[in-house]
Amino acid sequence: MTGASAIQRFLEQLRTSLDQDCFVSVRLSHAVHRTGPRPAVRDPKSEGNLDRSPLDESAAETVEFRLIELKGIPHLSRVIHEPKRDVTRNLTLAEGMDWIGQHLATQFRNALLRTTRRDWQLHCPAKGEPRLVGHKPAATALPSREHDTARQSPLGAPAADWLHALGITHANGRPRVSMADKHRQIGRYVEILHHLARDCGWTTEAGTDEPMLKLADMGCGKGYLTFAAWHLFHHTLRRPVSVVGVETREDLVRGANQSARQVNATGLEFIRGEISSAQLPRLDALIALHACNTATDDAIRRGIELDAKLIVVAPCCHQALRPELGNPEPFAGILRHGLFKERLAEWLSDGLRTLFLEWAGYQTKAIEFVGSEHTPKNLMIAAVRKHKPFADAAAQARILALKQFFGIKKHALDSLLQ
Ligand SMILES: C[S@@+](CC[C@H](N)C(=O)[O-])C[C@H]1O[C@@H](n2cnc3c(N)ncnc32)[C@H](O)[C@@H]1O
Repeated sequence: MTGASAIQRFLEQLRTSLDQDCFVSVRLSHAVHRTGPRPAVRDPKSEGNLDRSPLDESAAETVEFRLIELKGIPHLSRVIHEPKRDVTRNLTLAEGMDWIGQHLATQFRNALLRTTRRDWQLHCPAKGEPRLVGHKPAATALPSREHDTARQSPLGAPAADWLHALGITHANGRPRVSMADKHRQIGRYVEILHHLARDCGWTTEAGTDEPMLKLADMGCGKGYLTFAAWHLFHHTLRRPVSVVGVETREDLVRGANQSARQVNATGLEFIRGEISSAQLPRLDALIALHACNTATDDAIRRGIELDAKLIVVAPCCHQALRPELGNPEPFAGILRHGLFKERLAEWLSDGLRTLFLEWAGYQTKAIEFVGSEHTPKNLMIAAVRKHKPFADAAAQARILALKQFFGIKKHALDSLLQ
């Protein structure tokens, strides 16, 4: 279906899904960012006021709506995803429908309505007629309408299946008490990965001939975060993606593959292998979360060798560097305390990892993964390739100077210097 009627028909499908209680979610994406001053948008809540401030609509990348009940009255909970924050507001159904109607086509080129009967994808190209296409529904069960579900499941309705299959949530979608931290970590991880995917240019709606993104999660354990990464690309960003989890333990590989089959996770598989040697294709992204000691360095090296544009590691224990560390002045006075030495060794291990990645042409960020009140292992290093590898002599000199200052003779990534 094409033309203005495609937009009308999309809005009718939305209204019908709300009337007939088969609504799952709406997502507006592919924002049309303007270079000039932002247009004023009328806020349905504030009669006559022009809403310029609380919602920076020109900064909105995507907007998501889900249905919730507030004091027994259905509302559309709207989350505006901006580059650096999410802004949530609950609207009445009429306000929500109005907002969507006003912003379709003018501010967002794509819209996806998910219902339990059929999904509807609206595409409004810059030139040409809008098109509406129906698809088989991705979710056949209604999500919970409870108000706090967004906090429980930041991933949205299609995540319910795999969160349950992996034992993170009960059948009703509530996280198991023992898995509450893991659940929180998954939410935070997806949020971070979403921002990194944007840095890599992977968040624009994929065309049909878009090449498949290839991602490996090294030392994936039970695969909780591998499923989360797959979910982000497959469900949220709707990119063709192949995700492989690499793990030494056969039992974990078997269990994770079983769960993947159970929820029909196309493009997700787990293989038994070593981080340093697993057979992998050229990659777009390599991830290694909580891989012990120098396994993180092996992962970084593999990411560079396999040409990954994005490398994400959350280092675990840091045993290798500590015996290497000297006591240079003026640090000697404090390094006689074992605890300080241990912490400094951690810092230097991770700091050197960022420097090695920069030498390999990546731009790096050190991010707090989850709050340090949940785990001390909360540092994540994210690296996006931006420059020619091994060409910046100043980046190499920084590594050598730091090693020399602390008397570090050997580092697991030294081979990159050759
Ligand atoms: C601490 S768990 C982390 C699991 C997962 N990445 C996470 O953060 O939730 C580390 C996992 O890495 C696996 N592992 C450790 N060394 C490995 C290696 N060299 N190659 C592949 N897997 C490894 C372990 O068996 C374990 O399941």
